[in-house]
Formats: sequence, C-alpha cells, structure tokens
Amino acid sequence: MPWAWVAGASEGLGLAFAELLADRGHALVLIARRGAVLEEAAARIGTRHGVRVVVHAADVADDGFAEHLHTWCLETPPAIAVFNAAYAPIGEFLELSESDLLRVIDTNARAPLLFARILGGHMAAAGSGALILMSSLAGLQGSPNVAAYAATKALNIVLAEGLWSELRARGVNVHVCCAGAIRTPGYAKASSGEAPGTLDAEVVARAALDHVGGGPRITPGWINKLAALVVGRWLPRKLAISIMASATRELG
Ligand SMILES: NC(=O)c1ccc[n+]([C@@H]2O[C@H](COP(=O)([O-])OP(=O)(O)OC[C@H]3O[C@@H](n4cnc5c(N)ncnc54)[C@H](OP(=O)(O)O)[C@@H]3O)[C@@H](O)[C@H]2O)c1
Repeated sequence: MPWAWVAGASEGLGLAFAELLADRGHALVLIARRGAVLEEAAARIGTRHGVRVVVHAADVADDGFAEHLHTWCLETPPAIAVFNAAYAPIGEFLELSESDLLRVIDTNARAPLLFARILGGHMAAAGSGALILMSSLAGLQGSPNVAAYAATKALNIVLAEGLWSELRARGVNVHVCCAGAIRTPGYAKASSGEAPGTLDAEVVARAALDHVGGGPRITPGWINKLAALVVGRWLPRKLAISIMASATRELG
C-alpha cells in the first residue's frame, strides 16, 4: 500500500484529505500537534478503510521538523503528500506580536518549503509522486487583516508553480490548491458567517486529489474560480485589495 502523508491532519480539511486518501487505498502518515485527537482519527480511519495509519504528534514550525521528515521518509516513503497545516492570526499587522509573525513564517512558509524539498527529493529519487500545497484566494493579492498569512499563501502558490515545472521531468506532480472559504473548525472560529462560495472540506480535498496530474493550480468551486479570475487577474490591484479587505474585515 503506497504511503500518503498529510501534515495538519487532525481536523478540518486535513482530516478530509486523510479520509479520502485512505478510501483510495493509501496507508497514511498523519502529522499534527494534538496527538490524542490524531490517534482517535487514525483509529477511526484505519478501521473504516482497513489501512495502516502512522501518527506523528509534531509541530511543523519546530526547528527539528526537517530532521523528523528525513527519518520518517525512510520509514514510510511518501507516494503522495499534502501540506495543509497553517497558522492564521487575524488582526492589524502592527497589533500582532513579532513572535506571532515569525510563527506565521515558520508554519506556513519554512515548513512547506522543507516538506517540498525533503519529500520531493524522495519522490524524485523514486521517479514518481505527488505533492499538494494548500494555499488560499487570500494569497492572490494583499489581504488586509491577514496580511502576513496571505503573504505566506502567495509563497506557496509561486513555490508550487515553480516546482510543478521543475519536478514534472522527474515524475513528480506538484500542485497548489488555492481554496476559498472552507467549512472547517478553523474557519468557523474565525468567521461570524459564511462567505459566498464556501465549500465542505470533503469537496475541496476531492477536487485537489482529482487534479493530480493536471496544471499547477487548482481552485475548487465555480464561485472561487470566478473570484480568482476577476480579483486575481482582471481587476486593477488597488480594487482587488479593497474587495479582499471587505471580506477579511469580517474575520476575527
Ligand atoms: N478554512 C478556510 O476557510 C480556508 C480557506 C482557504 C485556505 N485554507 C487553507 O486550508 C488549510 C486548512 O485549513 P483549515 O481551516 O482546515 O485549518 P485548521 O482548522 O486551522 O486546521 C489545520 C490543521 O493543521 C494542524 N496544524 C496547525 N498548525 C500546526 C503545526 N504548527 N504543526 C502541526 N500541525 C498543525 C491542526 O492540528 P493541530 O492543532 O492538532 O496541530 C489542524 O489539523 C490551511 O492551509 C489554510 O490556509 C483554509
């Protein structure tokens, strides 16, 4: 059974990815900080789908994360991997602490970069594999109230697009999933209502997995596709930022 990895797998979208990957016959490597929650999910998924599930209670922002990845890759070589974990503190940039901002970088930028380098290296050596980085429509332009988070999501888009081109020749499909709002515990905590085009986590995970082998970027849902086109490409930057501001102002 080929191994599928999900970093950020204890709830929400990551859990939906894990369920679907198990349903498609993968053994799982699940990573998140809350070990007990992860163990519970692993037992449930393992029993339901009859697959092996290995759990790592770890913080992707920790200094030792890369070392762990090297070890785990030897134990459970990744055939497909999703980097889903994220940190999204909400509020005006100047009100966020410096340590909070650095945690955004460590979780959303440094960790997926290392994840792509280490797992991508193993996949390229094996001559096949797929890697999905989770990003957001917020990463298509400046997004007030989540400015640092959005900037790291832009990094994931550009990184995945570059790797999509570089690694294809080595048999590795790299994609970025540029999601709009998703019904997850994280989104429910941050938002008082639902943005237009909000999707169930299972729908987003399925769209991303079904996209493997396609173009560099997948945006699940037609409303989000339209938003990505209009706000991300057609509108002048100034207008795109103010439209995004009217959506992100509601968060908090
Ligand atoms: N929800 C949305 O509306 C939305 C919209 C666009 C894009 N996205 C993107 O979709 C992804 C998932 O969103 P979500 O709403 O499901 O997120 P979430 O509810 O915050 O869940 C994230 C998952 O990652 C884990 N995690 C967070 N920080 C971690 C860390 N430092 N180390 C290890 N695991 C960590 C969490 O588990 P533990 O707490 O147990 O560690 C959890 O399982 C994110 O990349 C987000 O940027 C979400």
